[in-house]
Amino acid sequence: MLSLLLPTLLAVQALAVLEVQVPELPVVALYGMDTTLNCSFSHASPFNLSDLSVFWQLTDTKRTVHSYWASQDQLADQGERYANRTSLYPSQLGTGNTSLLLRGVRVADEGSYTCFVRVEAYGSAALLLQVAAPYSKPLVTLEPDSNLRPGDKVALTCVAYGGYPEADVLWQDGGGHNLTDNVTTSLVANEEGLFSMRSVLTVTLEPNSTYSCRLTNPLLGEDGHASVTITGQNMVFPPVALWVTVGLAVCLLGLLIALAAVCRRKIKESCEEDRAAKELEEAKELQEEEQSKTAMTPLKS
Ligand SMILES: *[C@@H]1O[C@H](CO)[C@@H](O)[C@H](O)[C@H]1NC(C)=O
Ligand SMILES: *[C@@H]1O[C@H](CO)[C@@H](O)[C@H](O)[C@H]1NC(C)=O
Ligand SMILES: *[C@@H]1O[C@H](CO)[C@@H](O)[C@H](O)[C@H]1NC(C)=O
Ligand SMILES: *[C@@H]1O[C@H](CO)[C@@H](O)[C@H](O)[C@H]1NC(C)=O
Ligand SMILES: *[C@@H]1O[C@H](CO)[C@@H](O)[C@H](O)[C@H]1NC(C)=O
Ligand SMILES: *[C@@H]1O[C@H](CO)[C@@H](O)[C@H](O)[C@H]1NC(C)=O
Ligand SMILES: *[C@@H]1O[C@H](CO)[C@@H](O)[C@H](O)[C@H]1NC(C)=O
Repeated sequence: MLSLLLPTLLAVQALAVLEVQVPELPVVALYGMDTTLNCSFSHASPFNLSDLSVFWQLTDTKRTVHSYWASQDQLADQGERYANRTSLYPSQLGTGNTSLLLRGVRVADEGSYTCFVRVEAYGSAALLLQVAAPYSKPLVTLEPDSNLRPGDKVALTCVAYGGYPEADVLWQDGGGHNLTDNVTTSLVANEEGLFSMRSVLTVTLEPNSTYSCRLTNPLLGEDGHASVTITGQNMVFPPVALWVTVGLAVCLLGLLIALAAVCRRKIKESCEEDRAAKELEEAKELQEEEQSKTAMTPLKS
């Protein structure tokens, strides 16, 4: 329809140009919400609505988003993606307001839209629509998360869902310093085009340290942050391990010394008894042999 009309529209434009106004800055629409794409024109004299034509079109593909002429909406060639989602403001048309209401904004709606208007004269202007969706609050997890020792390599994972567009991720330590090394961030889009963000920071553990993940949606500003603090709860400090080891060693040593003392006394006693019982005429060599034999006995029994 439009391609048939364009030659005549262009011919009209050559005669008189209608000034059409749209926002210069991109229009940011929240995902799932309704948005108004402003478009207006100024016409010196009052005009007959039946002489007004409005065409909303995708700038790049020229697909029809919404059309209006002969005093009514003309939706036969509307792109199916826009079916039941668009309308003009009929009561505002007479004042030169040809803005488009777009309901339930989707990620796929992002792009450039051109507003064509004709009332005797003809004009057009294009605007940019950007879609924004806030991310879920980020969540930080630790892998592994127990029996950690200073010097261990751990992977900290920060995840957030359902946002758009791509988020900026910033990892910081407890002192607020940027950690930019060893960070891997990936994005996965779901069917609706919304992103799941996953950022992995690999660090060498230091005792009592904090790591925070800060997520920013470039269109919506600060989204949120999450942090994890690694303390003695999930870390085995070397002093603790050392004292336990030393303590056990001391106990063991004490036990051994006590045992040795008892043994020595037992050996002495048994030796003296033996000596008393022995005949005086027994050879010294035999005595010594006997002593060494009995020395073994208490340990065996
Ligand atoms: C649309 O136009 C109205 C009136 O001029 C203005 O208040 C509003 O901020 C505009 N909206 C956008 C998204 O530009
Ligand atoms: C057009 O009219 C609608 C509905 O009253 C309003 O929300 C919008 O801001 C108007 N746009 C302009 C450019 O006046
Ligand atoms: C507007 O145009 C229609 C059709 O050309 C005509 O019937 C009608 O009388 C006009 N209205 C005014 C107020 O001029
Ligand atoms: C649009 O609405 C009409 C009437 O409610 C319905 O029959 C049609 O299926 C809808 N189209 C789409 C694409 O949702
Ligand atoms: C950390 O990085 C962000 C973004 O790269 C930057 O804006 C900020 O100034 C940096 N902060 C420090 C303390 O380096
Ligand atoms: C990054 O990883 C490498 C190798 O795993 C390591 O040598 C380096 O210290 C790490 N850098 C930071 C800032 O953790
Ligand atoms: C851990 O760090 C915090 C803040 O930096 C400090 O208040 C706390 O005393 C530290 N704890 C230990 C066990 O070092």
